Amino acid sequence: MDKLFIHGGQPLRGQITISGSKNAALPIMAASLLTEEPLRLRNLPKLADIASMRSLLEQHGVVTTPVHAVAEQSAGADLQAERILSTTAPYEIVRKMRASVLVLGPLLARAGKATVSLPGGCAIGTRPIDLHLMGLERLGAEISFNDGYVHAAAPNGLRGAEIVFPSISVGATENLLMAASLAQGETRLINVAREPEIVDLAHCLQAMGADIEGAGSDRIRVRGKERLHGAEHRIIPDRIEAGTYAMAAAITDGELELLDARESDLLFVIETLERCGVKVTPTNRGLQVRRANGRLAAADMTTSEFPGFPTDLQAQFMAMMSTAEGVSHIEEHIFENRFMHVPELTRMGAQIATQGACATVTGCETLRGAPVMATDLRASVSLVLAGLAAEGRTELNRVYHLDRGYERLEEKLGACGAQIERVPA
Ligand code: EPZ
Repeated sequence: MDKLFIHGGQPLRGQITISGSKNAALPIMAASLLTEEPLRLRNLPKLADIASMRSLLEQHGVVTTPVHAVAEQSAGADLQAERILSTTAPYEIVRKMRASVLVLGPLLARAGKATVSLPGGCAIGTRPIDLHLMGLERLGAEISFNDGYVHAAAPNGLRGAEIVFPSISVGATENLLMAASLAQGETRLINVAREPEIVDLAHCLQAMGADIEGAGSDRIRVRGKERLHGAEHRIIPDRIEAGTYAMAAAITDGELELLDARESDLLFVIETLERCGVKVTPTNRGLQVRRANGRLAAADMTTSEFPGFPTDLQAQFMAMMSTAEGVSHIEEHIFENRFMHVPELTRMGAQIATQGACATVTGCETLRGAPVMATDLRASVSLVLAGLAAEGRTELNRVYHLDRGYERLEEKLGACGAQIERVPA
């Protein structure tokens, strides 16, 4: 397994191009199952999770053809599900990537049935799919379970319904949005996720002919269609990558311009960073980030659904608060076990005490480089941020976690002055 070696202490200076959003691309790729015509996607990030979704879709019958546009640095691809070859999403793929569950709604809508391995838990929590299944049952699907798989069937097609979610789920909103697009009649989804990735999926579905209103609000109305057609869609930039690199600039006392980053995706994050003494200025190409003056100030933060502070930036924010002046109280309200980065940051000298969903971070002047272990995607990048600011050398093991969500991380950071090297194991 590859390792990353980071020699900290260099302020990051320069520009970083933000890649396409992993969490927008994954559901949008699954949406290719909804039509037999080609869906052309641009600005796809080159990530392990995207490759996993591609191989999952290919075994369902999606033919993927790379599309090279000279003008664009990023990747493009045509995805076409002329025929559905299999309606089963196997355990060996689903266990590696929980977003595989996003094929459930499209397969059910297109083929009238789906057999998807239950995702099982992961490092950050049990990750159930009860809200996905409740919604699909409301659309008329028959759901059963055996040998670790969920079996869904709608032999006479799905019928529109009103679905009130008891709690907000990004994935369940996405699955139901895709299923309802081909259901007979009108569906009203209430208490849904409002993330920019939901809006991007809705935009892609509308380009495919779906009749959707209200994406980005807490209720969405879908008038089902007989069929959807092919379309072309550019994936939005990754707001979590942008937020991560904004914090990299802050923690190293550097200055970065994040190209293609969108202020509207990060309003609450920007407000929180400004409370820490970080200046974020929109430019005509993205966002300029640097410290306002002097040491970072500690600030409290609580994660919540969009438009609140995203749970996917909590670990990175904690690393940043580890070097701030003062005490920061961080509360994680989305996942039940998302503090795995704490013991690793502590090995680098961070002073963090946790109690349930709360972490109290007492900032210190400097962190010390150390060998540390990546446990999940966002925890691992928080260790990179700490390593960039620490004195000495940090050795990050299990770098494959990073490759799931950060395209060319060491290249992007290295180009801005970071001393970071990937060593193949
Ligand atoms: C999406 O996961 C993202 N993944 C996650 O990003 C992100 O952290 C999460 O949304 C929250 O913003 C993708 O988009 C591929 P949820 P998802 O359903 O859809 C509970 C990353 O690092 N829940 O909104 O799985 C669940 O356990 C990843 O890029 C149920 O109880 O998240 C969690 O506590 C990590 N029942 C909460 O809701 C359900 O049926 C939010 O989960 C579904 C979810």
